[in-house]
Amino acid sequence: MSQNIELEKFDKMEEAPNSEPDRQYYFIAKAKKLTEELEKQLQRKPTYCVTTFGCQMNARDSEKLTGILELAGYEAAEEETADFVIYNTCTVRDNANQRVYGRLGNLNSMKKKNPHKKIALCGCMMQEPSVIEKIQKSYSFVDLIFGTHNIYKFPELLVTMLTQEDMIIDIWKDTDRIVEDLPVERKYAFKSGINIMFGCNNFCSYCIVPYVRGRERSRNPKDIVREIEGLVSEGVVEIMLLGQNVNSYGKNLEEPMTFAELLREIEKIEGLKRIRFMTSHPKDLSDELIQVMKESKKICRHLHLPLQSGSTKILKAMNRVYTKESYLELADKLRKEIPDLSITTDIIVGFPGETREDVDETIDVVRKVQYDNAFTFIYSKRTGTPAAAMENQVSEEEVKENFDRLLKVVQETARERVKLLEGQAAEALVEEINEQDGTFVTGRLSNNTLVHFKGEASLIGKLVPVRLKECKGFYYLGEMI
Ligand code: SAH
Ligand code: SF4
Ligand code: F3S
Repeated sequence: MSQNIELEKFDKMEEAPNSEPDRQYYFIAKAKKLTEELEKQLQRKPTYCVTTFGCQMNARDSEKLTGILELAGYEAAEEETADFVIYNTCTVRDNANQRVYGRLGNLNSMKKKNPHKKIALCGCMMQEPSVIEKIQKSYSFVDLIFGTHNIYKFPELLVTMLTQEDMIIDIWKDTDRIVEDLPVERKYAFKSGINIMFGCNNFCSYCIVPYVRGRERSRNPKDIVREIEGLVSEGVVEIMLLGQNVNSYGKNLEEPMTFAELLREIEKIEGLKRIRFMTSHPKDLSDELIQVMKESKKICRHLHLPLQSGSTKILKAMNRVYTKESYLELADKLRKEIPDLSITTDIIVGFPGETREDVDETIDVVRKVQYDNAFTFIYSKRTGTPAAAMENQVSEEEVKENFDRLLKVVQETARERVKLLEGQAAEALVEEINEQDGTFVTGRLSNNTLVHFKGEASLIGKLVPVRLKECKGFYYLGEMI
């Protein structure tokens, strides 16, 4: 992993190179010198803590930040008392923003006690000008702010932060660049997320992601395959291909390629055991993809297929470009073609103009599709999105009542679905020692369901056969066979 990268070559350079990623390696070498000085002062290695909010994309970005910090000589700490704290933020719903503001207050008191403490903020929230204004005004103790488009420039920003006192703000509006080959420190040794594309062009009317993550850009398939091969050689057996809408992968490449074609290429990688991906937009899910999934030995039996609403009227206002009927048809086709597939979803309650009848339509879809799991969200108004300007916002009481009605059905149907496997044998990838009972391990089935069974740490990262003995609602108790 990142530790194997030789920094000596960059150490000797007198000036920063202009080409990437070399330029950033040059700054990592410089940062390393600075942390060595700090280490002498502190009589211990300076520590870091990266706190991640939001989705898998952010989790992957945090692994990149961590990889850079490790190479620059920082040591990982669990706690935010560390010498350097980074918040990688999310802004998809307002409560994500509020959590960040709430926690920043605590960091300030810690900073008063530790004169070496540095605080950085990055991620989606930082792409909103109003957020930057607020931080400058009310949280002036923050040392560094950068956005989603220039995350690869973190080493350079880190060096600036370590050599000056003022708050550094570097936010780009958009980018068409993809910088490959920066160090990454993975959270798990045996599984990894991989970006296959960045940004989003869909502009669902409620969603802020296209504004903070920029236009859709696909990575070159050769770079993706090379990265996965590298991961496999380090012991990774399961990968999760990441994109806001993986089904539109490859459209903007010089030599266009479909997502299904990319999957065929990845399937060929020897030693790779499992392939997952998210997220699939229903409007772009092709028959070709269903076919590839059906024939694949490696693609997991799980599809996250966000519904958002079951009412065609609301879907139109959301700019989702499918109808209740077309979604149901698609789900039906998936169930017929791949019977052991688990389907999960995201649903928003309280979109402007949503009535009780609209929610009834959503509940109807939940009953018909029988999701294995569904994430239900209360609509959050995001300034700058078309939906925020819609007049007919729904009252809080109405939203609450509809949300509870929906949740009840979601839970009932998910329980029924998950229970279907009771008594069967399946293969689980062991992920960790069970948190509650150290004599148990937790594994994940191909369809994403968790199973807990007696086992020890040596099983972590291995695929093992288990009997699913008892369904406990949303997970299983099992035993190794
Ligand atoms: N690209 C993915 C979703 C990314 S955001 C997709 O298209 O499905 C993850 C989820 O957050 C969305 O599926 C949606 O259900 C929810 N979400 C997005 N914006 C929201 C908002 N303004 N209020 C509430 N939930 C929202
Ligand atoms: Fe947001 Fe829609 Fe893009 Fe998903 S597809 S990130 S919901 S705009
Ligand atoms: Fe949040 Fe950004 Fe992901 S807004 S959901 S962290 S893309």
